[in-house]
Amino acid sequence: MTQPTMSLATTPKLLRVLSGEPVWPPPIWLMRQAGRYLPEYRALRAEAGDFISLCVNSPLAAEVTLQPVRRFDLDAAILFSDILILPWALGHGLRFAEGEGPILPKLTTEAQLNALDLARLPEAIEPILQTVRLVRAALAADKALIGFAGSVFTVACYMVEGGGSREFAATRLMAHGRPDFFAALIDRLVDATIIYLDAQAGAGADVLMLFDSWAGVLPPEQFRRWVIAPTKRIVDALRARRPGLRLVGFPRLAGTMLAEYARETGVDAVGLDTSIDPLVVTPTLPAQIATQGNLDPLLLVQGGAPMQEAAITLANSLRHRPHVFNLGHGIIPQTPPDHVAELVDAVRHG
Ligand code: CP3
Repeated sequence: MTQPTMSLATTPKLLRVLSGEPVWPPPIWLMRQAGRYLPEYRALRAEAGDFISLCVNSPLAAEVTLQPVRRFDLDAAILFSDILILPWALGHGLRFAEGEGPILPKLTTEAQLNALDLARLPEAIEPILQTVRLVRAALAADKALIGFAGSVFTVACYMVEGGGSREFAATRLMAHGRPDFFAALIDRLVDATIIYLDAQAGAGADVLMLFDSWAGVLPPEQFRRWVIAPTKRIVDALRARRPGLRLVGFPRLAGTMLAEYARETGVDAVGLDTSIDPLVVTPTLPAQIATQGNLDPLLLVQGGAPMQEAAITLANSLRHRPHVFNLGHGIIPQTPPDHVAELVDAVRHG
């Protein structure tokens, strides 16, 4: 009798897909799978107080990370934290105003840039690394643990703007008008992101994802300079340290720049946002690059037949290539949790 190899039985499906193997049915996890749409999240969030306190409370953050995996049997857990924890860890202020989103000091001066302190990082990120360790220890061997950071352009957007924005005009003007200053900010964030992600991998994250939510506001030349080039530096540095590491890049709304991003940065997979037609874009991508996405988060709010049909069509249309089933952007708070269970069932059982 032939023994099934240990590795095939327990290697998380997500890791197989990120190695370039088509897997059927595809692994599924969902951006923002932990969060306010889950009553068990809201209960722990109330216990922790504010959002940052929850992010740095390792036992609670680990529990919040595991909640959706337990409830829906998803194929991966994603570390519960936030992309803006990195500037916070560098000593830049951050708070989350209820109903308003993040608020940071607007970064415009040399003094503010020089105050971003890499030496603070190891101690400041320790609670996040402890969350990674706790989750990995509690998670089944066949589930992947995804660590993450914001991509440096998106993090810089929030730092320069002082919070969210529709267009990030101040950031884009800075990139055009003070390119040396902006480059110095990007460089500092590249160095910090390498340290931060390498530490997450060291603590037990199997996959690292770079969220570049605002990459799509840039024209092509700027996209190359502020998105592709810094992402490549991060990917190269991490791969030099950890050859087997799997990396996913999500340059949201990159449009026609997505293929160049996939070719040039060295990531193993690209996230597809809701606007992308996978059948149009996949022929332009290198064959071994996996894709991840891209069901409309509003279909998950809708549920029922429209969601199930769209999900099955999407999964089937990509079944010949390495694909990770996900949404095109994060779950929104009014999503009924039952619809997530329905979605997982539709993707797994048709
Ligand atoms: O996906 C997950 O479940 C992991 C955790 C995670 C969060 N934010 C938790 C969170 C991840 C991966 C993020 C990424 C993130 N954070 C991005 C990139 C992805 C995207 O959505 O485009 C961005 C731009 C942020 C910045 C951020 N954090 C904003 C703009 C906000 C306010 C808007 C909102 O949804 O409340 C947050 C807060 C935040 N991050 C919450 C959660 C669960 C809500 C906090 C709460 O009030 O409980």
